[in-house]
Amino acid sequence: MKHVVLVGATDGIGKALARVYLDRSWRVALLGRDEGKVDAVVGELGSEFPSETIVGGVLDVARDGDVVPSLERALAALGQMDLLVYCAGVMEAGVSGTRRMVDVNFIGAVHVLSWGADYFVEAGKGRLAAIGSVAGDRGRKGNPIYGATKAALHQYLEGLRHALHGAGVGVSVIKPGWVRTRMLGDVPGFPPSIAASKAAEIIVRGLDRGRDVFYVPGWWWVVSSALRLMPRPLFKRIAPP
Ligand SMILES: NC(=O)c1ccc[n+]([C@@H]2O[C@H](COP(=O)([O-])OP(=O)(O)OC[C@H]3O[C@@H](n4cnc5c(N)ncnc54)[C@H](OP(=O)(O)O)[C@@H]3O)[C@@H](O)[C@H]2O)c1
Repeated sequence: MKHVVLVGATDGIGKALARVYLDRSWRVALLGRDEGKVDAVVGELGSEFPSETIVGGVLDVARDGDVVPSLERALAALGQMDLLVYCAGVMEAGVSGTRRMVDVNFIGAVHVLSWGADYFVEAGKGRLAAIGSVAGDRGRKGNPIYGATKAALHQYLEGLRHALHGAGVGVSVIKPGWVRTRMLGDVPGFPPSIAASKAAEIIVRGLDRGRDVFYVPGWWWVVSSALRLMPRPLFKRIAPP
């Protein structure tokens, strides 16, 4: 019996991940910032998977002082933890959303994952994971602030992986391309997007394999590597979104 804690999982990719893990009979703790939404999602998944265990918990990752008590409560209800996945994220337009993007996409992640790291180091095993983005691989014109928060998250996770090397704890960076969720919105002209359920399947496979860094779907590795290696003058001229 395996146990997973999903943070920021009341919608989109996080909710789809909960569904995949419940389908595999993992015990799931699902945390989100809005109590009504947490109850609704736990109720919905509970009726889809009546014989599985799902624990709900309220956690607004932007409220520093709430992070550890909420996680401790969820862990106590779940019993133990084999995997912790940080799914929370926001993308807002303009400079006015900077604070929220930094708080949710980076600072909240650091608080949650540091707590998870302490738990797994003590247990001598476990895996930490967080959803980054291809947008964090190189500064792009679409949303430079969002991209910067994801780049910071990637860098933090890489350092954490090295810090935990030898402790039996794995650290995975998940880098999706375009996934059809509320965050992506109804943007025309994004044909290469995939459904959240498909993204969740790919993510679970990557985590099963214990991969350090992986793209969702995998072909984004080719695109992102090409963009990363592209000489600056050419990148400026092409100016990908
Ligand atoms: N969709 C894409 O194309 C795409 C591509 C690359 C990376 N990503 C990343 O994938 C992750 C999931 O995004 P998504 O596409 O599934 O978007 P989404 O449907 O908007 O889901 C975002 C989730 O984060 C939660 N959240 C936001 N602020 C929070 C807070 N302060 N505390 C706790 N939870 C909070 C939301 O809660 P509420 O339900 O309460 O709003 C929601 O459950 C994000 O990190 C995103 O940056 C997405």
